[in-house]
Amino acid sequence: MCDGDGKITKKIILEPGRTFGEFSLLPGYTGKDCDIHTVSLETKLADDLVLGIPFLSAAMTSVTGYEMALALGMEGGLGVLPVRMLVSEQVSIVERIKRHEMGFVENPDTAYDTQTIEQVLGKMDKHGHSKIPVVDRNNVFKGMFTRRHYWDVGGHPQAPVTEIMMPFDSDEKLLCHKRSNINIKTARKLLEDSESDYLVVLDGQSRLVKMAFAKDMKPIRVASAINTHRGWRKRVEANIDAGVDLIVIDTSDAYGYFAEDVVVKKYKDMDTGVPICAGNLVTYDGALMLMNAGADIIKVGMSSGSICTTQREKAVGRAPMTALIDVDEARKRYYDNAGRYVPLIADGGISSAGDMIIALTVADAIMMGNYFNKFFEAAGDKLDEDGKVTRLESKMRNVITYGEGSEEARNLERYGHSDMMTFFPEGVSSTVDYAGFMKPSLKADALRIKAAMVNAGCMNLQELREESVIELMSEYSKRIVTETHDIDTKR
Ligand code: IMP
Repeated sequence: MCDGDGKITKKIILEPGRTFGEFSLLPGYTGKDCDIHTVSLETKLADDLVLGIPFLSAAMTSVTGYEMALALGMEGGLGVLPVRMLVSEQVSIVERIKRHEMGFVENPDTAYDTQTIEQVLGKMDKHGHSKIPVVDRNNVFKGMFTRRHYWDVGGHPQAPVTEIMMPFDSDEKLLCHKRSNINIKTARKLLEDSESDYLVVLDGQSRLVKMAFAKDMKPIRVASAINTHRGWRKRVEANIDAGVDLIVIDTSDAYGYFAEDVVVKKYKDMDTGVPICAGNLVTYDGALMLMNAGADIIKVGMSSGSICTTQREKAVGRAPMTALIDVDEARKRYYDNAGRYVPLIADGGISSAGDMIIALTVADAIMMGNYFNKFFEAAGDKLDEDGKVTRLESKMRNVITYGEGSEEARNLERYGHSDMMTFFPEGVSSTVDYAGFMKPSLKADALRIKAAMVNAGCMNLQELREESVIELMSEYSKRIVTETHDIDTKR
């Protein structure tokens, strides 16, 4: 390639691309008020779209359906409904999620007043609870045990839970209601007026009947993917009418005419009031182009997905952390010029808490396929130990996973095949080990992220992006810090 002066401008990058696991987060000064209970995982993707946790489930047929979108939305994340769904399917899920009313939790999990703190914490970890009602053997409510309170007052793990719980009747923070036929409207009002996190409903003999949680009153967010070719406008209109919170362009390579002109610019003219996330991109120039075209959010990643064979098939893509760092440079440049901050979503190759933490030192949120695919709520079929599809939770051993570019999904438009009616797979079909219900794992990984933020001295994700320092490891040092060493590994 020659420029106007006859100079050869072709660029060859000899620096290797980097992925998340090659970096360490360095500790920063941790202030007195910075602990795992005070740091926040909230992330703002748009003025009207603040997530409680920075997680999006991938727009993949084997990952996100109604159950995943609802369960993740209830935890404060965002499910993205795949574009392979019919428009009517996407719309019906969006409507069902938007209609989902906060309900009571009937027969909530309980701890017994004879148990130790350690036993109760074990049960809470297993189910992903941050609080649990304590009852006697007649189910009479004795008090509330919350991690937050335990953290504040401390206590020996072998001490009875009754020593640390907030006892019934002696603490004004406990919101109890003694009429078991209370309706949800009244419960909602009580929660709103009291600003309590939860409401405990008891019968006339003070036996625990049900609970309601303030977090379930928050609106549940949901997003829908669209493609860049035929029918995108209709899909957008139907989803907007249904009340979707975010439109996500789903193409493997958004650096081109269709994403720029047809969708991002024309979408902006539609003035829907709903933000649009454009992607995927992995380069500075591509990101700058779509920011200039008006993209509200940029999604970053190509070739790094767990089921992806793009690099193998056609040697295109980029190591995900390098892609993120480059797109972040474009965002800084765009911010300096236009004064608009564009949130970034890292997509592909993130499956451990460590990957999440490093990605969040640059990205505002992360999208994951493989991570969510292994849970009960995933859309993929669950298989028993003989490889047969089962609906019995106790028999589930594996979950089907497949890429949008695989033979199974044949999401042609994501890979630019639609007009030519050509196809070769860029993704595989496989299985992942079944990992149970999502909530406990999600909570455990959220805790790991919070703990890392405490190490870095960051109270929120914005501080993590702006102030934390990450360092590249050598191959040798990576082995030393990421693996146990010089010990008997048989134990
Ligand atoms: P994971 O979290 O590593 O499983 O990556 C998930 C991401 O992989 C998705 O959000 C997509 O961006 C991408 N992806 C999904 N299906 C395919 C495929 O068939 N080929 C290549 N990439 C894919």
